[in-house]
Amino acid sequence: MARRPFCLDPRSPRGMSRIGFIGTGHIAAPMVRFLAARGHEIRVTRRSQAVSSALAADHGAIVADTQIVLDGSDIIFLCLRPHQINDVLPSLTFRADHKIVSVMAGIASDTLATLCAPASDFVQTIPLGFLEIGGCPLAAFGNTTVLEALFAPENPVVPVASETALNAHFAICAMVPGLLDMMQTGANWLGDHTQDPAAADFFTTQLVSGFLSAMDRDHGALARERDALATDGTISLQMTQTLRTQGAHDALHSALNAIGKRLDPSS
Ligand SMILES: NC(=O)c1ccc[n+]([C@@H]2O[C@H](COP(=O)([O-])OP(=O)(O)OC[C@H]3O[C@@H](n4cnc5c(N)ncnc54)[C@H](OP(=O)(O)O)[C@@H]3O)[C@@H](O)[C@H]2O)c1
Repeated sequence: MARRPFCLDPRSPRGMSRIGFIGTGHIAAPMVRFLAARGHEIRVTRRSQAVSSALAADHGAIVADTQIVLDGSDIIFLCLRPHQINDVLPSLTFRADHKIVSVMAGIASDTLATLCAPASDFVQTIPLGFLEIGGCPLAAFGNTTVLEALFAPENPVVPVASETALNAHFAICAMVPGLLDMMQTGANWLGDHTQDPAAADFFTTQLVSGFLSAMDRDHGALARERDALATDGTISLQMTQTLRTQGAHDALHSALNAIGKRLDPSS
């Protein structure tokens, strides 16, 4: 069945939505570029000036004071750092019909409901910058309709049943830089042996990204692919066993548990 364009305002042409960003930093910018390329009308707050100016100049975003961003938008993305929300949100006037998308790690729905009242339509999600080119899974808690309409199918929306589950997905997102760090160690080791660090970085990155992009995503695929490689007597099995026996998996579990607690102290 054909996807129906999301259109809050019946006067808006071609399913275009009026979208406002509160906080125009690292994660807002790729979302704005993705949405502007699809013809949505975007308003952004001025700070960070270099980012908002570039979004205005190159992608047609309208830069405005925060309340003007709210007043001119139907969908509001909250992209502030958690410690900034109490400086910004309490002084703003939200509307009951605002649809709120929060990307702010660890800001609970009851806090959002208080700060954004009378708005009551919320979704919390976890974008990563590569959403701009597609392929970013968007774990989402709340009313996922807006996310589906704006970002899918390029970026698949993965609904989750609770805030605790969403926070666990945040922790897994933090695994990405952890894995990059491991890969950098491997690439450095390769560069030390070849005296060609640039080629070592390229080979390591291309190897892992090429492998992952060819892989299935079904439940069990990770273990299946690992076991297909790490068979008896192979250097692959030597690698997986050494990492396990020398504590790499214990370290990962411990980091995930600590991050999970930080995001959700009640868990
Ligand atoms: N970065 C990621 O990959 C990522 C991924 C998923 C979720 N998140 C979440 O996204 C949120 C933002 O992260 P970020 O990395 O994008 O941080 P960031 O780059 O620091 O963006 C925050 C933005 O808010 C602006 N700001 C601060 N005070 C403001 C005010 N009073 N009025 C208007 N704007 C104000 C900042 O401007 P100044 O620069 O002038 O201070 C900055 O542009 C965080 O809650 C984080 O958990 C980030």
